[in-house]
Amino acid sequence: MLTYRTAQPADARLYFDWANDPDTRQQSFNSSPISLETHTGWFTRKLADPNALLLIFSSETGQVVGQVRFERTPVADMPDEIIIGISVDAKQRGKGLASQLIQKGCAVCRKQWGIVTIHAYIKPENEASVRAFERAGFRLSGKSGKFGISGRATSGHQTPCLLYVNSQ
Ligand SMILES: CC(C)(COP(=O)(O)OP(=O)(O)OC[C@H]1O[C@@H](n2cnc3c(N)ncnc32)[C@H](O)[C@@H]1OP(=O)(O)O)[C@@H](O)C(=O)NCCC(=O)NCCS
Repeated sequence: MLTYRTAQPADARLYFDWANDPDTRQQSFNSSPISLETHTGWFTRKLADPNALLLIFSSETGQVVGQVRFERTPVADMPDEIIIGISVDAKQRGKGLASQLIQKGCAVCRKQWGIVTIHAYIKPENEASVRAFERAGFRLSGKSGKFGISGRATSGHQTPCLLYVNSQ
């Protein structure tokens, strides 16, 4: 049984290490390494931001296993867009935890922000993430260039990210 808590200032280093995990950087839309200075400013802003929800999940033994983040952005054609991001600690991957974090995180998000549609933007090559979001009840809505294009160029083409949606 996973438990969660909201992130605290003392979690800055944990998030820094997770953010710079090589797989996490590779699967992020900006894959450059993150400096401690950049991270510290970002993390401080997010903790104070009412439109950001940062959740840390732990196992029964109290071991931290990963994080789920929700960001709420007002956009022109919708009242709000809520975007989910997830990473599982490298030592805890491959155990089927990701879909549990996603489901539990979405429940917390909806409790906090009401009934909401949640969007996940995933690089097409990130098979583990696609499968985890599908298992958690997200469905492919289409392709999106929102975060630019990703992936290796093939015949001069690059791939837009996939938009997965969960409306409950
Ligand atoms: C993506 C990530 C969250 C998955 O976490 P995880 O706990 O390892 O995933 P799970 O063990 O729950 O596996 C999820 C599914 O992917 C499959 N899977 C796991 N690793 C895989 C891999 N390398 N390639 C293909 N499928 C894989 C699992 O078999 C499982 O599929 P199933 O439910 O059909 O059996 C984790 O790898 C991670 O943190 N990656 C770096 C950050 C990242 O990519 N975040 C998502 C950005 S959208």
